[in-house]
Amino acid sequence: MITATAPAKVILTGEHFVVHGQPALAAAIDIYSKVTVTSNIPKIIEISSSALGTTSKFSIKQLGKKSNQISNDGIMDPLKHIVEKILQTAGQIDRGLKIQIDSKIPVGVGLGSSASTAVSTTMAVARYLNLELEKNDIFEIASIQEKLIHKKPSGIDCTTATYGGVIFFKIGKVPEYLKPNNSINIVIGDTRSKRSTGDLVTKVTQRVNLGNGEISRISKSAGKLTMEAVKSYREGDFNNLGKLMNKNQKFLQKIGVSTVQLDRLVNIAQQAGALGAKLTGAGGGGCMIALCRPDNKYKVANAIENAGGRSYIVSIDTTGVKSENLST
Ligand code: PMV
Repeated sequence: MITATAPAKVILTGEHFVVHGQPALAAAIDIYSKVTVTSNIPKIIEISSSALGTTSKFSIKQLGKKSNQISNDGIMDPLKHIVEKILQTAGQIDRGLKIQIDSKIPVGVGLGSSASTAVSTTMAVARYLNLELEKNDIFEIASIQEKLIHKKPSGIDCTTATYGGVIFFKIGKVPEYLKPNNSINIVIGDTRSKRSTGDLVTKVTQRVNLGNGEISRISKSAGKLTMEAVKSYREGDFNNLGKLMNKNQKFLQKIGVSTVQLDRLVNIAQQAGALGAKLTGAGGGGCMIALCRPDNKYKVANAIENAGGRSYIVSIDTTGVKSENLST
């Protein structure tokens, strides 16, 4: 039996703009997806998710079938493509597998749950088949799912889930891993409203493609903001990093991806003394993050809870995906 875990992520600055070529700053956090692989009768693949309460069972013949439709029935379809790719790469297309997903990452709220699950599934299945994959291969295979679900992902979610740590990311550039700083305190506030990353990315992309001058100006400013955020992070200047996050939230409001609930939790966190706060991920609902001092993170978390949000106090994950062989 093989188990693999991969972290969730938060984006400190630069979501959406990263899809259009600007840099972003992201961090892996200590909330994990866990995938366990055991044997099954030959050619039968069973994928169950405790969080989604679904089980999908299919014979190996169906694996190649294309399914871009994410419905209740087809919710596991993108993962099937990953499993197929690994079985093919390992030359073991006749194997049967039971894949159990137990994720603690809230689904559909901007914490990269689908990327994390894709990454942990890739590693667990590969290890089970004794296929040695480098992290780079894990990233490539896991990205198959992200492309099916999110249509035009930047790759930031899979990168963070695979490698862990704090990442300075730009499409087409080798990601830069910044030294994790333990004194960074992040509180997440979940508005508890789900949304689709793919739809939000498409909405922003359509406006960019229409040649909307305002969006392109905001996008450039957001890119500069991330460069300054990276400098502040490196220097441990969290006061300035917080200010930049507040400014980034204004850009995200302007491009129409924040919501009344997100703005409310952002304001509440700022009033409770957070150094900075903004939505994280695609927006349209989902989560916000607050950068806090160690002595006020509980106050900020309580303020979020009192306002009806769900709070998580998180630390940075420095490892990324990892696996364990439980039978030895
Ligand atoms: O909402 P999430 O966790 O899937 O994050 C999406 C981040 C975006 O920048 C909006 C999209 C991307 O692929 O970078």
